[in-house]
Amino acid sequence: MSLMPPPLAILAELTHRCPLRCPYCSNPVALARSGDELGTQEWVDLLRQAAALGVLQVHLSGGEPTARKDLEAIVAAARELGIYTNLITSAVLLDQARVEALAAAGLDHVQISFQDSEEHSADRIGGYAGGHEKKRAVAAFVRGAGLPLTVNLVVHRQNLDRLPSMIEMAVALDARRIEVAHVQYYGWGLANRAALVPTRAQVAAADAVVAEARARLEGRIVIDYVVPDYYARRPKPCMGGWARQFLTVTPSGKVLPCHAADSIAGLIFESIRERPLAEIWESSEAFRRFRGTDWMPEPCRSCDRREIDWGGCRCQAFALLGDAAATDPACALSPHHEAVAALAAAESETGVDAFVYRSFANVVEAAGRAVRPGLAPRGAAARPGPG
Ligand code: SF4
Ligand code: FES
Repeated sequence: MSLMPPPLAILAELTHRCPLRCPYCSNPVALARSGDELGTQEWVDLLRQAAALGVLQVHLSGGEPTARKDLEAIVAAARELGIYTNLITSAVLLDQARVEALAAAGLDHVQISFQDSEEHSADRIGGYAGGHEKKRAVAAFVRGAGLPLTVNLVVHRQNLDRLPSMIEMAVALDARRIEVAHVQYYGWGLANRAALVPTRAQVAAADAVVAEARARLEGRIVIDYVVPDYYARRPKPCMGGWARQFLTVTPSGKVLPCHAADSIAGLIFESIRERPLAEIWESSEAFRRFRGTDWMPEPCRSCDRREIDWGGCRCQAFALLGDAAATDPACALSPHHEAVAALAAAESETGVDAFVYRSFANVVEAAGRAVRPGLAPRGAAARPGPG
């Protein structure tokens, strides 16, 4: 029996395989090959351990989770264990029969990501011709199967001006929830930052669009809004605090406090192939490293928000400063905040629009582009390339 309160939810990255190639993918720059993936029984065993620990929800993600032929079996196991299942998908591999099979297996909810409202731009950003129309069709299958739908809209400089029509598209698709999320700059997003960072004016306009849509759609559709850190005054309470509420399991079974934690050099994450989930959650060194407030430097240590935002995001502190133990520079109280805001403003004006697409082949280039002078991730250059 664990002494820690259990995690509320698990992000299960079933695979890093994905037909889309989004340049802001939250997967690590070093992608896991399919030969390393956990098998069906290993995922089912993990879910059993999670249920025993007290986990209530599993987000089935990737890569593209529907690339796994055993997804129905994994969903059925979760259902039997009483765990709520949310499928986070690009949708392009789904058809009506598979959506219905997943619903029959007990799937509770589907989240589909859209890259834009305009087809040509959407397919360019996702790096997948025909993807946008496929997603629209699958959204209808999801609603037709009686499943609730969340539309996820990742926004950045190259699509932000169309946010009003993106929200209207989600309404027309009968979404119950819309998530408008500014790109987070680690992993692939960091490698593509100059092509993605919005201007300050775009961010102000997006804030107003979301506020107006929330007021107009109140009572019908919930709109979640993930603000862009680089222009913020205070950081987000990333993951509700390190190793406090969530954990991620990678395709090969590594257990992380968040989806990007593997980008932090120097932390060793344990695998469910080597140690029970409850032990990792409670006492793994990497989980304990930034849990709570004891690890905090000033200004967090004496700040009255330290148990509200938990010092912000460790992965962002590492990506920008090369020091995961630093105050998140998204915080205006960080000595590095002004430099980050200036960097964002400068990059937003560069006019760069070419992407390094997420792919196994582009791993080395992406790692190189993530290393920049000044506010650079010091450990990134030493990270392994593709296997
Ligand atoms: Fe949060 Fe630390 Fe900034 Fe205070 S100083 S607001 S705890 S990040
Ligand atoms: Fe890892 Fe924020 S994404 S702590």
